[in-house]
Amino acid sequence: MAGVGSTLPPSAVIAVIGAGRMGAGIAAVAAGVHHRVMLYDAVEGAAARGRDGVAADWAALVARGKLSEADAARRLSRIEVVTDLSGLTPADLVIEAIIEDMAIKASLFRHLEAIVGDGTILTTNTSSLSVTALAGGMKQARRFAGFHFFNPAPVMPLVEVIGTSATDPAIVATLVETARAWGKSPVCCAATPGFIVNRVARPFYAESMRLLAEQAADVATLDAVMRGSGLFRMGAFELTDMIGHDVNFAVTKSVYEAFFQDPRYRPSLVQQALVESGALGRKSGRGFYDYAAGAKPPLAKDLPVGPRLDRIVVRGDLGPATALADLAKANGIIVESAAGDGVIEFAGLTLALTDGRTATERSTDETPVVLFDYSPDFAAASRIAIAAPDGAAADVVAQAAGFFQALGKAVSRLDDVPGLLVMRTVAMLVNEALDVVHQAVASAADVDVAMIKGAGYPSGPLAMGKAVGAIRLLAVLETLARAYPEGRYRPSPLLRRAAATPSAGASWV
Ligand SMILES: NC(=O)c1ccc[n+]([C@@H]2O[C@H](COP(=O)([O-])OP(=O)(O)OC[C@H]3O[C@@H](n4cnc5c(N)ncnc54)[C@H](O)[C@@H]3O)[C@@H](O)[C@H]2O)c1
Repeated sequence: MAGVGSTLPPSAVIAVIGAGRMGAGIAAVAAGVHHRVMLYDAVEGAAARGRDGVAADWAALVARGKLSEADAARRLSRIEVVTDLSGLTPADLVIEAIIEDMAIKASLFRHLEAIVGDGTILTTNTSSLSVTALAGGMKQARRFAGFHFFNPAPVMPLVEVIGTSATDPAIVATLVETARAWGKSPVCCAATPGFIVNRVARPFYAESMRLLAEQAADVATLDAVMRGSGLFRMGAFELTDMIGHDVNFAVTKSVYEAFFQDPRYRPSLVQQALVESGALGRKSGRGFYDYAAGAKPPLAKDLPVGPRLDRIVVRGDLGPATALADLAKANGIIVESAAGDGVIEFAGLTLALTDGRTATERSTDETPVVLFDYSPDFAAASRIAIAAPDGAAADVVAQAAGFFQALGKAVSRLDDVPGLLVMRTVAMLVNEALDVVHQAVASAADVDVAMIKGAGYPSGPLAMGKAVGAIRLLAVLETLARAYPEGRYRPSPLLRRAAATPSAGASWV
């Protein structure tokens, strides 16, 4: 087997089976580097259409001056349409990207094993089927792996390389090195449900949907908090509207079922209702938002400008919110320091970063406690979410808003829900990522790369966790687990261990 354990040589022939959205994109990637690519599809004319689509994409690049006409022609000449599966015998690497159906994929691989030589590497681009089950039906499972590209394949840098217990580690190494040579960012992952990205990303959607169901705030406000405070590129509602609720809900359901209905991954009734009503997001003109022509996008709710204050007392260490003291000083507020447990006091109220408990639980009759949500960078945050105790006087909310407004932030009020939005989402992302590492699904470094390159997160979940700190995250999750005793928020054993080590949080794994 030529080149096994290292990059496939430029002379290696790549066969792509299924010339739909993914197959055509993967063919473009391989031919764009230097490989001869054989493109096959079961539907007559589909492979030629796939090749034409790639040609059109490259023509657009030529028109924008990003690719020379000669290069586009050279690349295209490397993609050969094959009309019979038996024509794929010369392939050194086969990438299957056909319909997501276990029986059809399994039958294809049975046929392929009889067509290709023993040295050919066989891979599947499946997003949700069991790579192990596919391997189980093969004669030579040692040369079979998952090779999971993201959509659109020519643009998205991440490739998950999924080895089963039967896969030869040298094959995994070859796929990793080949993906790297193709300009991608490969990560290794065990053959488990959702691989890395589709598993670790679940709470990103789930926590926003859960807070919406609990009326914590409206769609536009929750999205704005995820962007403005969480510093994510998009909120969960605008993102799932873009992905399509049929697609996103199907992934959630498949991960939930694959984990034997673990409450961690329970799908949202809110999203199910969208799917059932045909509100699939942008593509159907309506999802969480209305995309009809002339529809006005709803605005996030900002609290009105509160009173300007001139002095605060910072009690103890603000932890991940330490930057607030400097921001206050920079905005002309006098900051006094005193002993205490990491809160800010002014005008008879206490302001505290959420630790999972509600503001109502933390307040006393004498001192109302207003909570604020987490931001990975309070200086860069454009918005802060706060929650006030039940029955809080209007001036308490206004005073708290006034503080953050004095720092140049928009302020949104959430209902007094445990863990608020960003803290809750980050805690669950970190927790899931730690379980992935704990269960040897992937390394900590690969999980972070996968979520940055595959999901566009501003930083990897393990880096996010380190910034919040293991002790704080454990407290948030334990409090959430008490508030929702259904098992969803149970802390990862690895988080408990990190929190128990003397350097808690400094090193994760
Ligand atoms: N679309 C995505 O975002 C995405 C991302 C990553 C992985 N995937 C996975 O990639 C695979 C393909 O997805 P897609 O979105 O490109 O689908 P698609 O529907 O766009 O394309 C599938 C193609 O496979 C062909 N096909 C079906 N059965 C075949 C067979 N037996 N032999 C040969 N060709 C056959 C179809 O004619 C079609 O052209 C699926 O396994 C999917 O889970 C999809």
